[in-house]
Amino acid sequence: MFRIAVAPGDGIGKEVTAEGVKVLQAAADAENLTLQLDYMDLGSDRYLSTGELLTDDDIKFMRDCQAVYFGAIGDPRVAPGVLEKGILIKMRTTFDQYVNLRPSKAWHPYTPLKGEKNFDILFLRENTEDLYMGAGGVLKGIEAKANMSLKRGLYDVDLTLSSKASSEQEFAFEIGMMSRQGIERFADYCFETAKRLGKEKVTAVDKANVCTSLYGLWRKVFDERSAHHGIDVEYMYVDAMAMALVRAPERFGVVACPNMFGDILTDLGAEIMGGLGVAASGNINPEGVSMFEPVHGSAPDIAGQGKANPIAAILAGKLMMDQLGRPDIGRMIEFAVKMAMKQKLVTADMGGTLNTVQAGDAIANIVRSSG
Ligand code: NAD
Ligand code: IPM
Ligand code: MN
Repeated sequence: MFRIAVAPGDGIGKEVTAEGVKVLQAAADAENLTLQLDYMDLGSDRYLSTGELLTDDDIKFMRDCQAVYFGAIGDPRVAPGVLEKGILIKMRTTFDQYVNLRPSKAWHPYTPLKGEKNFDILFLRENTEDLYMGAGGVLKGIEAKANMSLKRGLYDVDLTLSSKASSEQEFAFEIGMMSRQGIERFADYCFETAKRLGKEKVTAVDKANVCTSLYGLWRKVFDERSAHHGIDVEYMYVDAMAMALVRAPERFGVVACPNMFGDILTDLGAEIMGGLGVAASGNINPEGVSMFEPVHGSAPDIAGQGKANPIAAILAGKLMMDQLGRPDIGRMIEFAVKMAMKQKLVTADMGGTLNTVQAGDAIANIVRSSG
């Protein structure tokens, strides 16, 4: 039995989570596995009525589960960052989910890339540090000072910044920080994953030619851990990487990214495989509670219209089953998705004619008939 916290969230998060659960349930039934799905009300509606984001009770609830299955958050009625930082980033940092795992593989014929390129990339995104630390502020006024103390996870940092900006010349800052310990554990995960997948190298992405302190430490630690694991590391600057992912994605296997570049490159990774509607992700704490979600957001532009592609959420269920030690169920889900794609039983973003529920039903039916 697995106990799973299910948080559909906002917008299309609700629509795609329903289909993801449908497919998970069909696959679990086929294997006589019991799933206890405990729903949580996280997101904009609750925030707007109670002011709550991710409460201590929510955290306790999730801690008692083996995994969290998440939809998406984000709502045009709420200022950018409130829900994103208050719910999603807080979840990733509270549970110390320091690896964000985001596969990108060519789904023929849906990849927009020319030719029959076959690529199978596993993006691993560092998920707790870098520009996502929340070390920022805005200074205004003559000789303004910011005193900030950051005590979170691996950090206990006290910073004082001052600027001579006048009130018309506001001075904003957002500091990227990484710790040796944070890079080491992430690099170890990357090299161990490469070894497990039989890959000879890890490609590490950065901007060490400009942010020399931040990504200088990143490279130093990657070099050390590469030698330790006996797996090569190849460095790519993020700008060149964006180009190479379009031109020659087949060159890459395991790609290690700092948090912010990983966010951006994995939307690109999603698009080259067949669109945001098929890109799934796992926020992994190898020793704790992990969280699984689509790469995409709440998509307010199509929410409530039955247009959302449920495949990303369904494949997030596959990643969850893999992580919980049931790769057999994971394979069953991925096979059904592949079959549905082959038969063009897909939504409009992939050129199909099905709505969200029909696309979910099609995949659940394939699971039932093949299970
Ligand atoms: P988005 O990922 O929600 O949408 C980007 C574009 O892709 C939109 O045109 C959307 O219609 C399309 N799209 C996304 N998912 C799709 C699907 N399953 N099927 C078909 N089309 C799909 O990104 P955005 O519009 O920049 O952000 C909307 C909100 O979501 C914002 O508040 C943002 O902060 C939030 N967000 C949340 C998460 C998350 O919860 N993990 C991730 C990304 C963005
Ligand atoms: C993602 C999203 C989040 C991120 C946002 C919504 C906080 O874009 O999961 O890719 O930046 O990590
Ligand atoms: Mn993103």
